[in-house]
Amino acid sequence: MIKIAPSILSADFARLGDQVALVEKAGAEVLHIDVMDGHFVPNITIGPLVVKALRPHSKMRFDVHLMIENPERYIEEFAKAGADHITVHLEATPHIHRAIQQIKGLGLTAGVSINPATPLDGLKYILDELDMVLIMSVNPGFGGQKFIPAVLPKIEILHRHLDQMQSSCAIEVDGGINLDTAPAVVKAGANVLVAGAAVFAHPDPARAVQELREAAQGYKG
Ligand code: DX5
Ligand code: ZN
Repeated sequence: MIKIAPSILSADFARLGDQVALVEKAGAEVLHIDVMDGHFVPNITIGPLVVKALRPHSKMRFDVHLMIENPERYIEEFAKAGADHITVHLEATPHIHRAIQQIKGLGLTAGVSINPATPLDGLKYILDELDMVLIMSVNPGFGGQKFIPAVLPKIEILHRHLDQMQSSCAIEVDGGINLDTAPAVVKAGANVLVAGAAVFAHPDPARAVQELREAAQGYKG
């Protein structure tokens, strides 16, 4: 089943609770929360405080995407704030295995993300440990960027590999997902679609979630 994960990065932060409720009601299974530190990526966004504030208002799975250097420092705080899943970047720490163990040790599911130019190779010795791989389809840092089609073969190769391993590890794709690009990433093997601008820059975010699901399921039911 394809899951839709609206990213709050493009939401109206003055009405964040309402916007989250809207996409939850529309059937989104996952809420994607982008955390940026101004070091790993050029932008700064939100911290555990916002996760904690939203937690009592939503039953969606909170998928926290840490775009921060040395994420080990903050994993516990995000877990305490109410994250269900934490993704860290392969490029953001020399101790990726330790970071994964830390996330799982706190009872959460763990993901690792790779930037568009990062090959799959670095995942080889950690793939067994992961609940999800997040393939970036834009350079992380900002919402509303254009999808980079060169990542499609990467999704396909990973999908084939996970199939061979009989792994239940999910493939999430993040960046530039909209009605035009969703079918291609699903065809390549993605099963969790992050969408920021396509949902929250849409005049009707609830409708946007439904349309994305239809576009994704147009390829695979
Ligand atoms: C980008 C973030 C994304 C972002 C996607 O660095 O990781 O989650 O919100 O936004 P769109 O869907 O607008 O490309
Ligand atoms: Zn993200």
